[in-house]
Amino acid sequence: MTVENTTHQGRRLLRTLNGEAVWPPPVWLMRQAGRFLPEFRAFREKANFLTRCMTPDIATELTLQPIRRFAMDGAILFSDILILPWAMGQSLDFIENKGPVLEPIRSESDLARLNPRRVAEVTAPVMETLSRLRRALSEPVGAAPANSVTLLGFAGAPFTVSCYMVDGGSSREFAQTRLMAFSEPSLFDRLIALLTESTVDMLSAQIEAGAQAVMLFDSWAGLLPPTEFRRHVIAPARQIVAALKARHPCVKIIGFPRLAGIMALEYARETGVDALALDTGADIKAIAAQAPPGLVLQGNLDPISVLAGGEAMRREALAVREAGRGRAHVFNLGHGVLPTTPPEHVGELIATIRNIDT
Ligand code: CP3
Repeated sequence: MTVENTTHQGRRLLRTLNGEAVWPPPVWLMRQAGRFLPEFRAFREKANFLTRCMTPDIATELTLQPIRRFAMDGAILFSDILILPWAMGQSLDFIENKGPVLEPIRSESDLARLNPRRVAEVTAPVMETLSRLRRALSEPVGAAPANSVTLLGFAGAPFTVSCYMVDGGSSREFAQTRLMAFSEPSLFDRLIALLTESTVDMLSAQIEAGAQAVMLFDSWAGLLPPTEFRRHVIAPARQIVAALKARHPCVKIIGFPRLAGIMALEYARETGVDALALDTGADIKAIAAQAPPGLVLQGNLDPISVLAGGEAMRREALAVREAGRGRAHVFNLGHGVLPTTPPEHVGELIATIRNIDT
């Protein structure tokens, strides 16, 4: 229970990520900068998704929108996990009602066309966005006092990014990716290694630009059986954590091995992440009872309960908050805010967690 740095004083999220049991817990929501906000939808008409990510003015504004409205404890960079393959030269489009579409990587020659040396230059605007955000958050933003909001960077974990790269877009099964892992293990290992190295460089650049903690999204980790999970989820995350900590000893890292089930605690132990983000299906009470006391937990209210709102949401939210009592816990959802969620429900959720009567 130490606070490494007194400048974390007002930042409840950063204090929690440093292992302090802060009460009530800090709160932010995955996909808090998103379609559920009318002010976000207004920007969608002005520029396509990639342009929004790559224009510092717009990306800064979109990151701050939920902070202005709800004064969350964390601001997550407006960007996407697929910016990395796109920056290496893979074609990427975001298509309305369909999601991302990429030209699939299926062979040695497809892999050889990716160029990790382009990433730093192509993602320079993202780093500019982060430094603007750090400046913006040193002033009050809406009801959030100056220096109270922690700035979060992120990346997709190698396996989840490879899912989109190999399958070429969204899927429920990512069968092509899993097939490649089994039938062409050496090709797949090289893809994962390439992503692991570039993820370290990109997250390092984010930290240098101002991100105070970073999150690694492994949204499809749970598709893999245990042996493959250790090889393509745990091993790359362990390398990423070690390399980032070697370069930036104080940085805090949140890992999200979604749908990992019973493997989640092994993931936390073996990778060395500071915080384990739990998905909706995880029993946070049971995990809190088994997790080592130094492991920070994040999560895991069902996003559907926020769509429902009212008493059902409050009851569930307070149960999640209670499960984390007495330890370092970051209140969040088990997956992203759903686009049809009424913004007032999110306001009520934040007030409930902070004990403010609505
Ligand atoms: O508010 C935030 O959380 C910050 C920004 C953020 C986005 N994507 C913006 C986004 C973050 C952290 C992500 C992560 C991401 N992106 C993940 C991992 C988390 C998860 O949800 O499992 C994944 C798998 C992706 C890939 C991705 N990006 C998909 C599958 C889609 C299409 C589905 C959808 O929700 O539209 C996107 C598009 C995307 N990323 C949008 C946003 C705000 C919607 C784009 C739009 O406005 O049209």
